[in-house]
Amino acid sequence: MKISIIGAGNIGSTLARKWAQAGNQIWFGVRNPSDPKFDDLRPLGQVCPVAQAVESAEVLLLSLPGAAVAEFAAQFGAVMDGKMVIDATNNIRSAEMNNLAVLQEKAPGAHLVRAFSSLGWENFAEPSLGGQPIDLFYCGEPTSQAAADQLISEIGLRPIYLGGLETVGLVDNLTRLWLQLVFTHKRSRRLAFKLVEE
Ligand SMILES: NC(=O)c1ccc[n+]([C@@H]2O[C@H](COP(=O)([O-])OP(=O)(O)OC[C@H]3O[C@@H](n4cnc5c(N)ncnc54)[C@H](OP(=O)(O)O)[C@@H]3O)[C@@H](O)[C@H]2O)c1
Repeated sequence: MKISIIGAGNIGSTLARKWAQAGNQIWFGVRNPSDPKFDDLRPLGQVCPVAQAVESAEVLLLSLPGAAVAEFAAQFGAVMDGKMVIDATNNIRSAEMNNLAVLQEKAPGAHLVRAFSSLGWENFAEPSLGGQPIDLFYCGEPTSQAAADQLISEIGLRPIYLGGLETVGLVDNLTRLWLQLVFTHKRSRRLAFKLVEE
């Protein structure tokens, strides 16, 4: 798949490494493509302006600060038409953790998925714990499920689809639970959730 990473920080670069290894074509949409801090990423894909990355993609990963999504969506909403857009961004100090509302408003033709938002990036870099793959609970438009399952599996995680975007509160509550365990209980960031069933 042609995947563009918007925001090449912890989350964006970690997922891009795995997706490049799996044979996907990667673009990194960044504000200053000539910045030497992106030199590590150049072997994985093209480091380019955000507009070029959005144009080039079949799949967009939004991995920029949550506060920057509204401006991004206003600028590129129309170009996201027909593309799968994975919102991994969080607004940790706001009542609404995700940015789906502004994406639905500005990019009504995008196929939205809410994934990779509920665990720390370290768990995507090393996607197993206790000898088992980590589960990634996510939601999104049903037509995007097969592609999302594949992209999640390529990271080494086990995808657990919760349903359409109306279930986003469940995903975001897992983020809150993860943050609570890490920060309030002073546990390691290497923790995740597992669905066990008969
Ligand atoms: N860190 C985690 O474990 C984690 C887990 C789940 C979800 N998230 C969410 O994922 C998102 C990224 O987190 P992160 O830890 O990867 O952050 P990060 O390391 O700070 O990376 C964010 C990247 O976004 C870029 N950026 C900032 N504003 C931008 C804009 N207007 N247009 C394009 N790029 C822009 C930054 O570029 P510059 O370097 O040029 O500023 C930076 O490379 C956040 O919304 C966060 O809440 C993080």
